[in-house]
Amino acid sequence: MGKLGSVVTSVAFYFFVGIAGAQDSFEPPGWAYPLMDEGRGRGPDNGILLSVPGSNLQRTQTQIDDPFNPPDWYPEEHPPLPEVVVYGRPPNVRACGQCHMLHGMGHPESATMAGLSVNYVIQQMRDYKSGTRTSLYRRHGSMLLSATHATEEEIRAAAEYYSQLKPVKWITVIEADSVPETYVGAGNMRHPELNGGMEPIGQRIIEIPEDSHRAERRDPHSPFIAYVPPGSLAAGQELAMTGGGKTIQCSLCHGLGLKGLADIPGIAGRSPIYIARQLWDIKYGARAGISAALMLAVVANLSDEDVINLSAYVASLDP
Ligand code: HEC
Ligand code: HEC
Repeated sequence: MGKLGSVVTSVAFYFFVGIAGAQDSFEPPGWAYPLMDEGRGRGPDNGILLSVPGSNLQRTQTQIDDPFNPPDWYPEEHPPLPEVVVYGRPPNVRACGQCHMLHGMGHPESATMAGLSVNYVIQQMRDYKSGTRTSLYRRHGSMLLSATHATEEEIRAAAEYYSQLKPVKWITVIEADSVPETYVGAGNMRHPELNGGMEPIGQRIIEIPEDSHRAERRDPHSPFIAYVPPGSLAAGQELAMTGGGKTIQCSLCHGLGLKGLADIPGIAGRSPIYIARQLWDIKYGARAGISAALMLAVVANLSDEDVINLSAYVASLDP
């Protein structure tokens, strides 16, 4: 990195100070930074063996939630698993596959890893470890533990594994005036209320599993639905394609179809609440790794509504 690195870092630093001073009233919205609602955990495990369609494996919910042995429901569907991805290394390096899953699509409250470049993943792990990539998101702490304790070899093995996986269509984006009533349960995942009614969407994105039971079992065939405000897709497309006078065309750096370019990550078809968190985390200086400096001019003038529109549009693209 040397000179260029430190120049970029100091540019990022001054930018951060300026922005933070101007806008320290930002409250991270709960729809993008979900935290479990009190009393809405899963409760005690009843010991029943669970499975998912088409798999021979059976596991109790406690086994499914094991941070050092997450379920491999479809062993024939992925390349050989590195130790760190499937078992981690107790006590501090949890299996990457627990949260990012073995097919790399992850859940809205974590992150998609499938198809990210090896160099990008290694750099992000360095940024987490050095403290330059933080988040307004409290759940971030679980990731920090793995980033702080994983060895260089483990990080490279995980990065090589996930980089070879092809991202799949994982989110259906739907414009809607009203959405199911929801709550945030175990692991910070949002679910529809059983027998719940509908409520106005407002300025929010509501992302829930198509099937809550299967998602809680970490079934890699169980995708998500994201309800977004009416009009957000067209508004987001306009901003992403033209910059709309307040940002920069995303494809200049994120490539054709926003599927990634060299070590710049693909963003197409990824969780819209993940995308929104990153745009805000970068804008407010919490995510400030060396390469995040390239994003500063992109996010500086985005309103909260712009963030929602861009996140909705980007998530709706084919990954
Ligand atoms: C306990 C859950 C958990 C475990 C285990 C975990 N992560 Fe994460 N990971 C997260 C969360 C949460 C985020 C960030 C979400 C955010 O910033 O909004 C994340 C983000 C990331 C990112 C950033 C992705 C991007 O597109 O920038 C990388 C890279 C990553 N994790 C790698 C790993 C690796 C490698 C391992 C295993 C050594 C691992 N993680 C283990 C929860 C986890
Ligand atoms: C000048 C180049 C550039 C432009 C233009 C740009 N980006 Fe980025 N973007 C980057 C880089 C570089 C990163 C990786 C940042 C890092 O390493 O922390 C990134 C990261 C991101 C991330 C986080 C991805 C992840 O995996 O965590 C999101 C979301 C994002 N950009 C959205 C956008 C959107 C939306 C636009 C268009 C409005 C855009 N970017 C335009 C360079 C750019």
